[in-house]
Amino acid sequence: MKNKIIAGNWKMNKTRAEAEALIKELVPLVADARNTVIICVPFTDLQSAVELTRGTNIHVGAQNCHWKESGAFTGEIAPSMLRELGVEYVVIGHSERRTYFGETDATVLARTKAALNAGLKPIVCIGETLAERQSGKMEEVLTRQVSEGFKDVTAEELQRVTVAYEPVWAIGTGVTATDEQANDAIKYIRGVFAEKYGKAAAEALYIQYGGSMNDGNAKGLLNMSDVDGGLIGGASLVASKFAAIVHAH
Ligand code: PGA
Repeated sequence: MKNKIIAGNWKMNKTRAEAEALIKELVPLVADARNTVIICVPFTDLQSAVELTRGTNIHVGAQNCHWKESGAFTGEIAPSMLRELGVEYVVIGHSERRTYFGETDATVLARTKAALNAGLKPIVCIGETLAERQSGKMEEVLTRQVSEGFKDVTAEELQRVTVAYEPVWAIGTGVTATDEQANDAIKYIRGVFAEKYGKAAAEALYIQYGGSMNDGNAKGLLNMSDVDGGLIGGASLVASKFAAIVHAH
């Protein structure tokens, strides 16, 4: 089995002062982790996060970036701005962005390409809603999100991409997918990537599970054959809980 990639998605939480306190607490707790550790923090916390994690094993990510390098896009942040700060990763296409901010497979693709061109490593989120799952459309939705959302992503670029399978019904709800549900969906997604990029590339691709993962359920999920890590929201805001997930595998 591969090592895991454990990423915290802080969402719109933590002022700079709060972020600094959390990172200082986290650094020693995950220092001997064998898994990759990433924290994806609000834009205003990025500089502090980069400085406080320098020389540690914690990698820093943002939660979005624009598809253009500069221009009249009030309120947006360009990938090169993130790179210059020392940011390594960026979450793209989170379901909250798709639901509340009009993100589509096309904008996800554009942002992913721009992030890759700037040298960032995108964490691209996909996942079905409850209605889609219940009406038997899960596979169709996941297939569409991969085929549209990765349309122009080359095999070489895919090596720098992490995918997060986050069933929308499990995000922030306390309802976690069962170990088997998570593994089955990720296996399905891997198959879709295999059709496009070949089996070896699909096997090498990291596909995380996200949605109410916590220190209690992480071990079961992370020990499944196809679950290559986790994207963790709520539980990543408490150092001890996030560290427990980092060490769960
Ligand atoms: P959650 O969020 O762990 O709070 O469910 C996961 C995510 O949205 O990435």
